[in-house]
Amino acid sequence: GRKWAEIGSLTAEMEGRAVLVRGRAQTIRGVSKKMAFLVVRERGFTVQCVVCVAPDLVSPQMVKFITGLSRESYVDVHGIVSVPKEPIKGASQQVEIQVRKLYCISKALPALPINIEDAARSEVEIEKALQAGEQLVRVNQDTRLNFRVLDLRTPANQGIFRVQCQVENIFRQFLLSEGFVGIHTPKLIAGASEGGSAVFKLDYKGQPACLAQSPQLHKQMAICGDFGRVFEIGPVFRAEDSFTHRHLCEFTGLDVEMEIKEHYSEVMDVVDQLFVAMFDSLNEKCKKELEAIGKQYPFEPLKYLRKTLRLTFQEGVQMLKEAGIEVDPLGDLNTETERKLGQLVSEKYGTEFYILHRYPLAVRPFYTMPCCDDPAYSNSFDVFIRGEEIISGAQRVHVPEFLATRAESCGIEVGTISTYIDSFRYGAPPHGGFGVGLERVVMLFCALNNIRKTSLFPRDPLRIAP
Ligand code: 4AD
Repeated sequence: GRKWAEIGSLTAEMEGRAVLVRGRAQTIRGVSKKMAFLVVRERGFTVQCVVCVAPDLVSPQMVKFITGLSRESYVDVHGIVSVPKEPIKGASQQVEIQVRKLYCISKALPALPINIEDAARSEVEIEKALQAGEQLVRVNQDTRLNFRVLDLRTPANQGIFRVQCQVENIFRQFLLSEGFVGIHTPKLIAGASEGGSAVFKLDYKGQPACLAQSPQLHKQMAICGDFGRVFEIGPVFRAEDSFTHRHLCEFTGLDVEMEIKEHYSEVMDVVDQLFVAMFDSLNEKCKKELEAIGKQYPFEPLKYLRKTLRLTFQEGVQMLKEAGIEVDPLGDLNTETERKLGQLVSEKYGTEFYILHRYPLAVRPFYTMPCCDDPAYSNSFDVFIRGEEIISGAQRVHVPEFLATRAESCGIEVGTISTYIDSFRYGAPPHGGFGVGLERVVMLFCALNNIRKTSLFPRDPLRIAP
């Protein structure tokens, strides 16, 4: 029978066993007419295969054939597992395969726009190699994204998207266990849901429409439909015109909406427990992946507390003030002041994950509930990892007349959201929720410097392909 083995699971205990592996020919090195080495890769793991002429087993023609293979071709390798005396460099597995048969099942073009080994090197390795006079092409971000199917093959990228999957998985598992219901809201909607200009407009059979900037309005309407606690994982569209390291035109939103019994802190409790569970699970279940990411993009593990720190916006402003940075107490923070506050919080409280709440009302969307003790502030919050925003959330206005007034004063055409406002005329409970950017969570958990690294096929103001 055939004994398919995964390259990542080949170990020294399998010495002497006949195995069959399928992977890509990452490097091919002919040593002589009688011998060649081939490194075969599968999902980021690599094994060295030795092809050596032997009577009745391996012919010189086979060595020639293998030496002539193009990199990245897909091959099936039949062979015997062996353990070499010397440690193996340039392959993840510490065993070799003595090749008996090899079939090429799909040829790659002989010249590739990206060399996977080069694309997988860390900045430090690149610097070293360049100093040692090695001929090496630094693979830039645009090239990576233009040829994304090649770039995705690096161990770090294999890790990133598995970590992303786990973030999504924990989000779902945790919320299901807390009585939330998964929903799907429409992505074709009549008007902007977050206001502002960052909306993709389209023609909906002759009617003006847009791509949903968030599930905000319909997830609230699901609360009016009595689901109590809901979540959604789905695409979010923003017609961003600035080109930054953290904005995409399409990203994956992890959204939550829930009834509030007494206080908006109930929503922050969910954030707290959900994310502590998520970080724990990533550190425990994604060790291999995080290690692969860290090898190419070194990072320190995220510092977080068992109970997430909550600071009010005013306390944040005060901390900045004490550090000599003046910010408008009724304005918003910008990227720079957010980052600075993140540093101060980390130094003072030993955490790189915290919640900042009670934002000034003026800087929040129209649907945000003002604080009952001071309407200049609101029952809202942002959540930060390493000084950058990953979540915004709030209690919502559930009183229809007030909601209409708020929308108007925020410059929203009330006609485009009348069915939303009407939803609250049939009785609605106090409620609140939050939205998380999936790509941002992965980017910041792993301290990556660009959101394009955590989007499989990123859409930004300049890119809609591949
Ligand atoms: O802060 P935002 O715009 O909030 C909302 O959409 C609200 N409806 C959420 C709520 O329930 N109150 O977006 C939520 C999160 C941000 O914190 C950020 O992580 C991410 O979505 N995000 C983006 N991610 C990538 N590219 C963009 N252009 C993003 N805009 C927001």
